[in-house]
Amino acid sequence: MAAWRKVTDRVHAEDGRIFAQLLHTGRIGHPSLLPDGLIPVGASAIAAKHQVFTPDGLQDCVTPKELSETEILDTISDFANAARNAIEAGFDGVELHGANGYLLHQFLASNSNQRTGAWGGSLEGRLRLMVETTRAVADAVGGQRTALRISPGNPFNDISEQDLEPTYTALVEAINPLGLAYLHIAESADRSLTNGLRRAFDGTFVLNPNTPGRPTGVEELELLEDGTADLLSYGVLFIANPDLPARLADGGPFNTPDQSTFYGGDATGYTDYPSRS
Ligand SMILES: Cc1cc2nc3c(=O)[nH]c(=O)nc-3n(C[C@H](O)[C@H](O)[C@H](O)COP(=O)(O)O)c2cc1C
Repeated sequence: MAAWRKVTDRVHAEDGRIFAQLLHTGRIGHPSLLPDGLIPVGASAIAAKHQVFTPDGLQDCVTPKELSETEILDTISDFANAARNAIEAGFDGVELHGANGYLLHQFLASNSNQRTGAWGGSLEGRLRLMVETTRAVADAVGGQRTALRISPGNPFNDISEQDLEPTYTALVEAINPLGLAYLHIAESADRSLTNGLRRAFDGTFVLNPNTPGRPTGVEELELLEDGTADLLSYGVLFIANPDLPARLADGGPFNTPDQSTFYGGDATGYTDYPSRS
């Protein structure tokens, strides 16, 4: 927390706002990344057909241990405590990672959650961990300091989802009463699903638009003009351009992202791209 305080103070000194994304990777993991020989946990003991980065290179995901009811409740508390710590460290809020095939998404998708009982089975059961975790975090730090990121239909990390529209509409309806800071969509399905979720959600709608074959760019700013979203989020372009907002305002130019430095290594490729000024 003391280390993060230096970062949050710098962001606030520049009039920025910063949310910490809280992520539990669930079954996307490997014992070599965990202390004391622990094995990853998941909704069910079903290995993801996927590989993860480890110190020894890419390795297959292992079969996770199915979380017990007590461990699920502990996990929800862990998220709430992490949120409190983030606020204590100066973050303006936290974003829960309900996207991209990590733990909350694993509970939602029926190919990774084959539990019976309260935390699986029906749609309500599969939604429960995402909704209850969001509620616990909102209770801990306030709805206006809590956000949720989802990626409807994204098969990344061996997720397979059906019935996207009813599933995600039910999720949005369940979280609407929490008064969240924003809902963040990592879009990979069709735009009509996005538009439906925007209509269903009561609050600020953040979109990371689907742009096959290239990162989100200056072209997507029109999605703000036409009301598709309230805010846009940028991944790759923000990694490569520390002064991205100013560059977007001017229409560019942009530094070229170096993919070889993504997802690991050291600070190279994260803190050394030049600003213009
Ligand atoms: C190196 C790298 C790391 C990423 N880490 C995360 C992450 O921790 N959490 C997350 O929700 N998305 C993560 N993403 C995905 C981005 O948030 C974003 O959805 C993706 O890059 C597509 O958007 P873009 O076209 O703006 O880059 C990461 C992407 C890259 C390239």
